[in-house]
Amino acid sequence: CGIVGYIGGKPAQQILIDGLKRLEYRGYDSAGIGLHGGTKIKITKQKGRIAGLSDSLPQDNPLETVGIGHTRWATHGEPNTVNSHPHMDYSGKISVVHNGIIENYGALKKFLIEKGCEFKSDTDTEVIANLIGYFYEQEHDCEQDCFEWSVQKALNQVYGTYGLAVMCSDYPDVIVAAKKGSPLLIGVGSGENLIASDASAIVEHTKQVIYLEDDEMAIVEKDDVTIKTIHNKRIERELKEIDFSIEEIELGGYEHYMLKEIFEQPDALSTCLKGRLDLNNYKIILGGIQNLSRHLTTAKRFILTGCGTAWHACLVGEYLIERLARTPVEVEYASELRYRNPIIEEGTVVIAVSQSGETADTLAAIEMCKERGATVLGVVNVVGSTIARTTDAGVYLRVGPEIGVASTKAFTAQVAVLTMMAIELGRRRHLDNSRTEQLIKDLDRIPNIINDVLKYSDMIKDISKECGDRENWLFLGRGYNYPTALEGALKLKEISYIHAEGLPAAEMKHGPIALINDGMPAVFIATRCSNYDKIISNIEEVRARGGKTIIIANEGDEEIERYADYLIRIPNVDDALEPLVAAIPLQLLAYHCAVLRGLDVDKPRNLAKSVTVE
Ligand code: G6P
Repeated sequence: CGIVGYIGGKPAQQILIDGLKRLEYRGYDSAGIGLHGGTKIKITKQKGRIAGLSDSLPQDNPLETVGIGHTRWATHGEPNTVNSHPHMDYSGKISVVHNGIIENYGALKKFLIEKGCEFKSDTDTEVIANLIGYFYEQEHDCEQDCFEWSVQKALNQVYGTYGLAVMCSDYPDVIVAAKKGSPLLIGVGSGENLIASDASAIVEHTKQVIYLEDDEMAIVEKDDVTIKTIHNKRIERELKEIDFSIEEIELGGYEHYMLKEIFEQPDALSTCLKGRLDLNNYKIILGGIQNLSRHLTTAKRFILTGCGTAWHACLVGEYLIERLARTPVEVEYASELRYRNPIIEEGTVVIAVSQSGETADTLAAIEMCKERGATVLGVVNVVGSTIARTTDAGVYLRVGPEIGVASTKAFTAQVAVLTMMAIELGRRRHLDNSRTEQLIKDLDRIPNIINDVLKYSDMIKDISKECGDRENWLFLGRGYNYPTALEGALKLKEISYIHAEGLPAAEMKHGPIALINDGMPAVFIATRCSNYDKIISNIEEVRARGGKTIIIANEGDEEIERYADYLIRIPNVDDALEPLVAAIPLQLLAYHCAVLRGLDVDKPRNLAKSVTVE
């Protein structure tokens, strides 16, 4: 979900709509805005995309200069107009947009109904609006403004997570924002201030921001921002600067963000590796975790955790750290780790991987591991995100904002960072010098190699034309390329809605082989390094049953030609670095299949870029 708010001197409607469009990748099943008209709040909301909402608004950009907006990814209640935000309280005075989940909403709703409140929607957000409205009607004897006081009172009754922006019809000059477990920041401008759940919504207006912490609220006026805890304690918070520019979140001539981000990978990885590969002394310098280097070198076990694509990067990390640093690694879905009562002993280091740095399951797993005494490192893209701030130390991906819902450049950068960590750990332990040297040299070449692979985009499009109508696909790889196969399958599922399974190639014969029928596409990552002979046997098994083989193989491998219905060649690299290269054609394959099916690549159905609810 996404929140945006504006208070200043300009007409707010267009600013809110533009902000919501930038946040649309975070949720897009319904949207709405509320404009403060001085004595009344006018709400427009509807099911569907921001473009639809925008069309339904007055086209002359009305003069209201205060407003809040929201784009939703449904949790409580189906995506329809009534359930979309902003929500009003029963008195029609309080208007709320909300990200997160209110866990005790059932009890609060019962209480409010007993007090005579009527509810229109199935959402937990309407409970917050009504609770604030309920307190707003009560007598209070302190000097604090009634509006601000009632928000505080309500938030002290609420369990769960929230990023909130609230307006009150009696207060035309203030928006109250609050945060707990769901990101929220205040953009500080000149004669205007903004509220957003994500910096991309406001970067075109200001780069100066205040990140709210949990249990904090901001009283936002046109020329002033006051930060307090929800227990009414004043807080001084320094301004931070947004670390990306508006250009970085524009399409820049590409048809889709996903394609732009796929093609950005050579540059993005160069930035990710820059200054971190010491090509004179052949070591890796990761400034963010340098203070913990002794701790890491002596670690007895690593737990790598994340969700979705980040979890696949963790799996590559497992192969890397075990092979190069000879240290035991476990990979856990964050959503499982947090409930598993995991064994954290002295010497256990947890590495949490996340593009957004806001994924609720990953955050909860980190908090649980920290409580048990683990050192937790973050491998995160978004600077200043909650996970980046919660971990003990970490390494940023430095790939710039990723807008396409299906992760591409963040995946390769996550793998690159884990590769650097594994090489450096290996170097400090028992990797011999020449291997370390070779790996670092090869890693340095990866951006150029990816550039070469991107040239196959048109050829991969042709493959998509021939196979993209099939509803079942297999993605098979071994060793380092088994996680790559999983990621290839996930990409296809996410954006093409084609059913795809990723497997270690040898596992196919233990069940999934039953799926193979005439013409079923099976994508093999069959490079020279990944148990080549064994994977050839797996390819034969597919062919014998009528499957169509799409093979990713090394340049110069002639033998493979007779096994391939379609062949995509990638340059030879050390097998430890292969996932960085082999992932690229798989991203392109998924992209072209989705485009040819006429699907909305950047906003696939039911998904959201960042899932800040459990
Ligand atoms: C969502 C996205 C996935 C992503 C996952 C983890 O489910 O749709 O593409 O891989 O979250 O996100 P993170 O921001 O933690 O990497």
